[in-house]
Amino acid sequence: MLVGPMGAGKSTIGQQLANRLGYFFVDVDKCIEDRSGADIAWIFDVEGEQGFRKRETEMLEDIFAQQSQVIATGGGAVVKEENQHILQQGFVIYLKTTIESQLARTAKDKKRPLLQVDDPKSVLLELGKKRFPIYESIANLSICTDGCSVKQVVDQIMQSLDQS
Ligand code: S3P
Repeated sequence: MLVGPMGAGKSTIGQQLANRLGYFFVDVDKCIEDRSGADIAWIFDVEGEQGFRKRETEMLEDIFAQQSQVIATGGGAVVKEENQHILQQGFVIYLKTTIESQLARTAKDKKRPLLQVDDPKSVLLELGKKRFPIYESIANLSICTDGCSVKQVVDQIMQSLDQS
């Protein structure tokens, strides 16, 4: 499963990786939206981040019961210890990126509630300080996505999987 911050490319890379492996691709945020019938922004608005995190853990538990899938998690899914235990049952791939790339990739984004602020850079820096060490600590494999095409990243992951 893929972990990493917002804008690291988890969904795009996850979909391509799943195609190469012949696995299903599952996006946790998308599943939460499908199940609740509401988008992430609405859930944050009405239920707060806490409500979203509760749904996220429930969804992770359900998804992990299935086999042969590549799973893209939301950037904050690694924070709860409970979630870390669920994630570590699988092969965890950390997609690393810089704050600058995150900012560039999420600049026009209206769907990420945590970034709808005047200074998204400080939010990303704050979140990174807390989360980057967690991504590192639970990952079986860390791959830098900056300056690489989706194909190059997927190739690197495939090579590492072959060797593991
Ligand atoms: C979040 C990341 C988002 C989504 C939600 C919260 C976070 O997913 O789960 O907006 O806390 O970093 P992406 O990492 O796919 O953007």
